[in-house]
Amino acid sequence: MAILKPTLLTALAAMVTTTQAQSANPGVGSNPNAQGATDDVTPSTGPNGSEDWLNTGLTSTGWTPPYLALSSVLHISLSQFYATIGSPCAQYDQYFQSASSKYTIDPVILAVIAMQESSCNASAGGPTPGLMQVSCDNYPNGVCTDSIQDNVDAGTNYLKSQLDAAGGNAIQAFGAYNGWFTAGSGLNGDKGLTVDYPCSEEGRANGVPQNLDYLHQVLNGWLMGLDVYGDDAWIGTYRCDQNCDDGKVIE
Ligand SMILES: *[C@@H]1O[C@H](CO)[C@@H](O)[C@H](O)[C@H]1NC(C)=O
Ligand SMILES: *[C@@H]1O[C@H](CO)[C@@H](O)[C@H](O)[C@H]1NC(C)=O
Repeated sequence: MAILKPTLLTALAAMVTTTQAQSANPGVGSNPNAQGATDDVTPSTGPNGSEDWLNTGLTSTGWTPPYLALSSVLHISLSQFYATIGSPCAQYDQYFQSASSKYTIDPVILAVIAMQESSCNASAGGPTPGLMQVSCDNYPNGVCTDSIQDNVDAGTNYLKSQLDAAGGNAIQAFGAYNGWFTAGSGLNGDKGLTVDYPCSEEGRANGVPQNLDYLHQVLNGWLMGLDVYGDDAWIGTYRCDQNCDDGKVIE
């Protein structure tokens, strides 16, 4: 199954900045259904729940994620996203809109994933090329093409398949997009992502952004219009390119 999964970690360099504000308020309130949710986004919490809660159920052998329907995920509007941190994505709007119609997924979700995966750089390379950074197996005929629409469709198709498999659970589907549930893939001694991963040699080598920050960064960072690879790189607690203890950085 490894061949079907998208890149485990986008190779984008998230430069950790140390002098930025350590919280932000997107003005969307906080979700009563999400545990640990706060109006403000901080390194460890946000409107869509605390990072610890999003990562609930992660053990040394696998992951039983909490449930939150994609339809209930709070986020800024597409126009707000394009007007601010998602500006590199605006030129690709027609492709997100088309895939959105085909797969019935809000286009802002697709634009945010493209931003997270490639910084909305359609020329981004690697084994999982382009905006959406999924493997060629997800393309219409199982072969990568140069078509941006094919690329966006491939990523959306993969996300949709994961949502369907997860009963609409956004947490589980986003995790899958980042290569969670990867037991047997070779990652982490074939165990996939586990609580032990961030501080392992392999987890440290992957540095930032650390996979276990992915859910918090997507649900409480990008979807709130925050610049996770720039000024808001403080979102998340697993910076294990630094010192580790229980998977978390020692400040
Ligand atoms: C995110 O928060 C909003 C409002 O605070 C809520 O409506 C939505 O259900 C939350 N989504 C998730 C995935 O927690
Ligand atoms: C997009 O990615 C390509 C390939 O890695 C790189 O050469 C190019 O500089 C990137 N563009 C931007 C705007 O970063």
